[in-house]
Amino acid sequence: MKPDIYVLGIETSCDETAASVVKNGSDILSNVVASQIESQKRFGGVVPEIASRHHVEEITLVIEQALEEARLAPGDLDAVAVTEGPGLVGALLIGISAAKAFAFANDLPLIGVHHIAGHIYANQLVQPMEFPLLAVIVSGGHTEMVLMREHGSFELIGETRDDAAGEAYDKVARVLGLPYPGGPQIDRLAGESETAVEFPRAWLETDSYDFSFSGLKSSVINYKHNMEQRGEEIDEAAVAAGFQQSVIDVLTVKAVRAAKEYGVRQVIAAGGVAANKGLRKSFETAFANEQIAFSVPPIQLCTDNAAMISAVGTEMFKSGKRSGLAMNGRPGMVLASWID
Ligand code: KG4
Ligand code: ZN
Repeated sequence: MKPDIYVLGIETSCDETAASVVKNGSDILSNVVASQIESQKRFGGVVPEIASRHHVEEITLVIEQALEEARLAPGDLDAVAVTEGPGLVGALLIGISAAKAFAFANDLPLIGVHHIAGHIYANQLVQPMEFPLLAVIVSGGHTEMVLMREHGSFELIGETRDDAAGEAYDKVARVLGLPYPGGPQIDRLAGESETAVEFPRAWLETDSYDFSFSGLKSSVINYKHNMEQRGEEIDEAAVAAGFQQSVIDVLTVKAVRAAKEYGVRQVIAAGGVAANKGLRKSFETAFANEQIAFSVPPIQLCTDNAAMISAVGTEMFKSGKRSGLAMNGRPGMVLASWID
């Protein structure tokens, strides 16, 4: 029997300070997330310098708690995985410095992980991934469709040409005067509304798997201005519902088309916007109709966490991937395959 693999994961790319221990890439023994949302709310978004300061305050405590909850000592671990990029450089560096120090002090291998690979592998914490697989990544910084033919292999087939889906959610929420982060607020309002304002869908060229959300955002802003000029009240819930429906329609239609074209065995949704109730329902229905297996992690594993970093780290560890202690934060890191 193969020995069990225990990987400590560390994530500090944005405004969550997170550490976790995962066994064999799928069993979560602990998953600690210290969120800065309350503090960042005052500024209506993430202020990088403030994010870094919070990470410095929290990181040691969060790592200690992750080990304590997993009931493991550093010597029981096999590796330390940490988000290397993309993200805010100052924020990344706090997690990376902590990971390096921990790995060096405990003589453990260090593995640098791509944040988006983490979001994809959050699905592995729920059920094994089946290949070929289509990952639809929708987060605050990314909107991408990635084809995976096996573990560690990533082919980008489409991406946003302007705003990421989550960014559009947050910007539209701001226009509607809703607090940060806007995604969950719009999701809630959209769910409450009986009606929806009609907004355009950006299909782009017929065969394109790319996305564009900035035109939709402008349409919402224009709609609000027009209504204001006419002295009419806007129905915020109906605007939220119309905006959300436009995002969901485009994501669903393109994901289904890609899944069929590439003949995938499984489609997975990943990233913060995959927590969206309307999107989850739309994907579930569409892929059930096509008889293609669909999986999405529970909501707390869709938003930033460290268990997903441990999950990727375990797979990379098994492939023999190791990073040196010279690892640096890579704010613009590209999702590259780790196998040939
Ligand atoms: O993946 P994530 O936690 O951080 C990044 O890696 O970017 O994603 C954060 C994004 C934010 O834009 C947030 O508004 C959005 O995910 N989000 C949602 C929902 N929950 C979080 N968007 C729509 N509906 C939600 N329920
Ligand atoms: Zn993320």
